[in-house]
Formats: sequence, structure tokens, C-alpha cells
Amino acid sequence: MPDDIIPVITIDGPSGSGKGTISSLVAQKLGWHLLDSGALYRLVALAAQRHSIATDNEEGLIPLAAHLDVEFKVNSSKDGLVVILEGENVTDDIRAEECSQMASQVAVIPSIRLALLDRQRAFLQPPGLVADGRDMGSVVFPEAQLKVFLTASQQIRADRRYKQLIKKGIDVNFAAILDYISERDTRDSRRSVSPLQAADNAVVIDTSDLGIDDVVIRVLELYSST
Ligand code: C5P
Repeated sequence: MPDDIIPVITIDGPSGSGKGTISSLVAQKLGWHLLDSGALYRLVALAAQRHSIATDNEEGLIPLAAHLDVEFKVNSSKDGLVVILEGENVTDDIRAEECSQMASQVAVIPSIRLALLDRQRAFLQPPGLVADGRDMGSVVFPEAQLKVFLTASQQIRADRRYKQLIKKGIDVNFAAILDYISERDTRDSRRSVSPLQAADNAVVIDTSDLGIDDVVIRVLELYSST
């Protein structure tokens, strides 16, 4: 690889496929930066809610997405990143189910996706980037050195999400989670722009019967053989 190229690994897939956890561990192992692109869509949705802008109000959403006042801070004592929106810690708020649904509604609007493109590409900094999302390999970083697409059955993904929420002490119902996941899958896969699908040259890994460590090792092996 030429010296002036900053390497990228893209990890795409539906919700609950494990891409968030896997991306963060791969980035840690390599000492690279991490882009959680879903967080950006969630932030646009949350900012819209706080400014009383409907998720289908394109004219109102574009300036929000283009000028999103957001900061990602690494928190060494807690797991993952702290997300600050307009000066307020919204790390937990953006993970709420309501925000997930709103995020997938704003994500169907092509001009919103366009408004977030440069911001996502700006995460590409030395020594490298692991980018997690739905269209990282197909649209945002089409030149990525390695493109991975993670899948798992809907039941397994809903079960992972259910356990995650129960662990956080949130009282949830499995059937409702399964419905939410299926609703989001349908919206994300059917939208006209950047639908959720594996890039042509992506390596598809079904994580249904794999542990987190197995998948991390597989991704690192794939990268070292590029
Ligand atoms: O990955 P996460 O579940 O946080 O993403 C929330 C929503 O944002 C997804 O359901 C999807 O609609 C949207 N999204 C997207 N493109 C990305 C990342 C997320 O459309 N690259």
C-alpha cells in the first residue's frame, strides 16, 4: 500500500449483527480511529426532536445535519465513547429505542445522507480507521482496503438487543424488540439511497453462531492478508 494512503476497514450490517462491538475491538487492537456512523444519524434525530423538527421535515433537518454541534470523547473508565450534543452528554439518550426508530427515518432522506458525508470522511486520519455502519463500504469509503458485512438471524439479533437492555436494567419485552428490529431492517433495506446491502467486494460473515472474539480474530486475519 502506498505511504500516503490511510487504511480503512469498513464493517457494515443490520442492527444487532455485532458491528458496534466488533468495530470498537478491531479499532482498539490496531490502535486506529473509530467511526460510529449510526451515532451521527441518531444525533440528527435527537437534535430534531429537541428542536421540535419532524423526522420528515427535510428543509428543517438539512441545516441540523450540516451544522451538528457534536463532540465524541473517549472515556477510558467506561466502555466506549461519550457523545456530547450542543454541550450536553447524550450518550444514553441516543441509544433509546425511540431514537433508533427516528434515526432510521431521517436516514432515508438523501439530502441528510449527503450532509453527513464529509463529516464521516473527516474521520479518516492516520494511522487508520475502522468505520461502522450500513453504507461504509458501498458509499462512504468505497476504496477501503477491507470491507466486511456482518449478518445474523433476526431472532439472534433481537435476543442480543434484549439481553443488552435487560443488563442495563431496562424493562423490555422480547416480542416488541423483534418487531422494532424487523421494522428497522425493512426501512433500512428498502430506502432508495444507500440501502443496507453488502458492497460487491465485501466479505460476509454470519455471526449467529460465532463469539465476539472469533469475529475480531477473523477480521484481523482478513486485514493482514490484504
Ligand atoms: O447503527 P445504528 O443502529 O446506530 O444506526 C441507527 C440507524 O441509522 C440505522 O437503523 C440506519 O437507519 C441509520 N444508519 C444509516 N447509515 C449508516 C449508519 C446508520 O442509514 N451508515
